[in-house]
Amino acid sequence: MARSLIPAAGLGFAFLAATALAFIPATPASAAVVMMTSPPKAITGDVAAGAKVFQRCAMCHTDQQGAANRIGPNLFDVVGRKAASLPNFSYSSALKGSGITWTDDKLKEWVSGPQKVVPGTRMTFPGLSDQKQVDDLIAYLNSKK
Ligand code: HEC
Repeated sequence: MARSLIPAAGLGFAFLAATALAFIPATPASAAVVMMTSPPKAITGDVAAGAKVFQRCAMCHTDQQGAANRIGPNLFDVVGRKAASLPNFSYSSALKGSGITWTDDKLKEWVSGPQKVVPGTRMTFPGLSDQKQVDDLIAYLNSKK
């Protein structure tokens, strides 16, 4: 009885050791996966704080998928979108001719002073001056996809 337990215990130990060895290299590997799937540029803003900032946009813009345009176009999934590309919104010719694609950086410039980015745009919003609010808002817009 005792003799037959010894090889079993030995096997059990070998199994545990193998499991432990398999686990150790798994940690840096999964960390590498996280790094690879992260966006190339970190979005530093706070999404919850950005939702509050968005209240200043919400009188003119919806942000839910399929929601109607207001005074301004729906902003669901706006990050990465070509400017003035919603078929059911009547944009200014200034924005239509701008050639902009809404990257994080372009959106930051835009919400800081739309008239400076596209002179003649119909977005009558003076612009945010607080850089933290701008970062939070861009993080929020990125969450809408
Ligand atoms: C007073 C109304 C108003 C407010 C407030 C406003 N916008 Fe706009 N927005 C517009 C209008 C109108 C347009 C279309 C501009 C044009 O055609 O020139 C627009 C266009 C845009 C576009 C371009 C979308 C596209 O499809 O190309 C973005 C992005 C945008 N607004 C973001 C924001 C954000 C973010 C805020 C809050 C900081 C905001 N807007 C506040 C009226 C507004």
